[in-house]
Amino acid sequence: MIERLTEELESYIVNAAENKIPGIFDNPTSSLEVFARVLPVDRPIAELERLESLYKKLLKHIAQLNNPELVYLVAKTQKEIGFILKYKPYGIKASTPLGFSIFFLENGEGFSFQRHLDTKTEVFYFIEVRPGKSFAFLCSYPEWEANYRPALFYEWLVKGDMSIFDRFCHNPESGDILKINKIGLVHTVLGCVMEEYANVSTDMVDRLYDQNKDNSIPKKFTREYFQSQLNNIQYPQRNRLVSRNEIGFISQSLEWMLINKIKMLSVAETDTYVAKRVLIPPKESWQFTSNKRFMSAFIGDGSARCELLKQNGLMVTGRKLFLDKHDVFLSLPRCNWRISNSSEKELQLSVFEIDEHSSLQ
Ligand SMILES: [Fe+2]
Repeated sequence: MIERLTEELESYIVNAAENKIPGIFDNPTSSLEVFARVLPVDRPIAELERLESLYKKLLKHIAQLNNPELVYLVAKTQKEIGFILKYKPYGIKASTPLGFSIFFLENGEGFSFQRHLDTKTEVFYFIEVRPGKSFAFLCSYPEWEANYRPALFYEWLVKGDMSIFDRFCHNPESGDILKINKIGLVHTVLGCVMEEYANVSTDMVDRLYDQNKDNSIPKKFTREYFQSQLNNIQYPQRNRLVSRNEIGFISQSLEWMLINKIKMLSVAETDTYVAKRVLIPPKESWQFTSNKRFMSAFIGDGSARCELLKQNGLMVTGRKLFLDKHDVFLSLPRCNWRISNSSEKELQLSVFEIDEHSSLQ
């Protein structure tokens, strides 16, 4: 069963014309085992995205079954898969199936200058600013149209120092949060490591200037390289919300809340998702109910014991999962979990909760 489904999936993803979906819904337990095997393998992006799309379909299907055994197996499988890695000419995108990603942009490199054509909302949380050219660019589409000339823009991007474009740039500090929450805002980020929280993982974007279009993917991008980058990240202590008004960029300090010894920072709240940082001291626990939302949590530091609970708060026997630093946790809707700090250090989580109807697109 496992071998046959693995073969079917491998064949499906390399054949873009094939529309008949392999039998992933027949036996969800086996299917999860197969995805844990095939998703952590480096592949061309188009193939990986076909595979990822099937994995999301399977998760949606399992969420409807309300089966505690499968709830536990989904969390266990996501721990085994970890991040789904996409290598791009300008950096590495490490993502969960829900819309939480960490981008490792190379020095001076970044996304194309783009605007969203649909209701995609992106929130960037800057973890680290790389040496050299690094900025977030933000302007309205009318501002872009009034100033953009291809040759001039190219010159600015290479040499810098041109006030008509410099005024749209913010030099981020680690801990800054920037929201791209209106259709048509022209934006990019260069030279940073950051978290991204987004309601859609696909690229429904209009690329207005693509400095990467002729660039190839660096050969150094491997799982080992990614792991070394991940090992270097350190979360900042302070946070600012950055936005732009008619005069320029403004930033406002954000306050952490303390609830039952647990520190929380609201990173974003949109119509469809909530993003927050959660810090749990040693020996303390956080009880979490997913309600009508899928939830992912990235372990930024420390380690966790995650116990699946019944409605009455008692543990579901044997459904316990241990997560280490840099693991990814995934919860289906309608679940209760107790997440306990099992380390001597502060347990740091980047939590993303998204409505089940908007998720896994
Ligand atoms: Fe974007």
